[in-house]
Amino acid sequence: MNVAKPRILCVDDEPINLKLYDAVLLPQGYDVLHAASGARALEIIANEKVDLVLLDVMLPEMNGYEVCCRIKGDPEWAGLPVVMITSLQERRARIQGIEAGADDFISKPIDQGEVLARIRGLLRLKELNHRLGQDYERVANLATFGAESLRAFELDSFELIPRLDRLVSRIIRQSADATDRPASVLVGYHLGAGWRWLHYEAPFRELIRRELDLDAAGLLPLPPPGGANSFFADRAEFAVRGLEPFVQLLESLPRLAASMRNLYGYLSSELCVFAGNYGGEVGAHEAVVLEVLATQGLFFKRLADQVREADECLAGGVDSLLRLAAIHDVEPRLHPERVGEFSALLAAGLGQSAAFVRAIRLQARLHDVGNGFIPLEILRKEGAPDFQEWEIIRGHARFGAGIIGDHPRLAMARDIALGHHENWDGSGYPDWRRGEEIPLAARIAALADRYDSLRAARPYKPAMDHGAACAILLEGDDRSRPEHFDPAVLAAFRELAPRFAEIFARLQEPVGERRAG
Ligand SMILES: [Fe+2]
Ligand SMILES: [Fe+2]
Repeated sequence: MNVAKPRILCVDDEPINLKLYDAVLLPQGYDVLHAASGARALEIIANEKVDLVLLDVMLPEMNGYEVCCRIKGDPEWAGLPVVMITSLQERRARIQGIEAGADDFISKPIDQGEVLARIRGLLRLKELNHRLGQDYERVANLATFGAESLRAFELDSFELIPRLDRLVSRIIRQSADATDRPASVLVGYHLGAGWRWLHYEAPFRELIRRELDLDAAGLLPLPPPGGANSFFADRAEFAVRGLEPFVQLLESLPRLAASMRNLYGYLSSELCVFAGNYGGEVGAHEAVVLEVLATQGLFFKRLADQVREADECLAGGVDSLLRLAAIHDVEPRLHPERVGEFSALLAAGLGQSAAFVRAIRLQARLHDVGNGFIPLEILRKEGAPDFQEWEIIRGHARFGAGIIGDHPRLAMARDIALGHHENWDGSGYPDWRRGEEIPLAARIAALADRYDSLRAARPYKPAMDHGAACAILLEGDDRSRPEHFDPAVLAAFRELAPRFAEIFARLQEPVGERRAG
């Protein structure tokens, strides 16, 4: 709790009056400052924390009205309550005080009870104003955050946990005196068959997130799907709210021991938020802030579910196409998957974004989907194809791109299918593109595909070991030249070659499925 005493600045040029204020205010627990002139009063206000000003009207040089005008005219000080002390009973003096912005008046000789009552009232009002301002700022902050999140939303790079991190960092206590904020926040969300729980604290400003291994959802009084239940509860109410078993489980975790007091709870069938350990009184303002937090969290969670479903649907579609292509293909069954993994490894090594890496891992698998176009007798022919057969085999690039189609989410797959046999030096097919005319994803998949093709056995060639495949890619042979590859991709391969060997060893068809060399 914030226990700083309210500080009152008494402005009067008569020392005896200042002593009188001390006698009234100090025993009531107020901190008192003195100023004998208007100029000195303004200096103190500028440099010290002051909660209220008792201001005599009759001052030398700058009178009380002018001091009051200066205080109320400065946006930084305008909220500071000013009580004018006047011996003038005239209406005119009060009107002048109101015009100067005074919050209240007290007549001399002062009445102790009246002074204290007015001070208490004004300080309470100031505190409420302060809290209202803070809460407004916090709600506005969350609303702005929500709008920014929507503007910055990208389907390819959406991840729930970083969103939750940023959301929680907006409301959690990050300094010891912010007692109107929760010291810890627990977020649980339903994922697949179970729940995941994240616990947050920010004792040294930096947000600390821990994933909790918590089998807790069965202990919570969750509302049915579509419903939500939010509340504040202190310890005494936990049993009534049905939270006792859940809180006991939390408190049994060694690193969270005794951490749940003064709890805000938001329960729904998909997302739960608990904000706990408020240092002071909690009320309607905090409820609004937490409600906004929970609602935005729920929104992000639903968005994450949709994104995951869309990703799974896309991956399912890719698998279907691959199964179809495999009926008519002689490639080793895991060739597409290995090319996807090699491509992802190279893309990450080239510093591409996580979204690019994720996309190429999936979409490079479709590079040979056009093999369905090649007659089986050519694909299964023992020995090397003749010139005419090579022409037909080469058609798989364009045919694959046609099968994949024009949807923007499969644009990378299309680029790869069409471009994975193009060479950096322009000697490839089907369009003799060169250099950066070939999309980056296709330049990456080209090397990944070539490595796997060298390693795996084909009807017309035996399998090859890692060292021999690397030597051909990096130094060349009668068919392959290093100039065929993007130099940056080849450099990344040189660095990552040992990982290629690991992936190839890990992703192997069962022995019975392998083709004899
Ligand atoms: Fe191919
Ligand atoms: Fe291939």
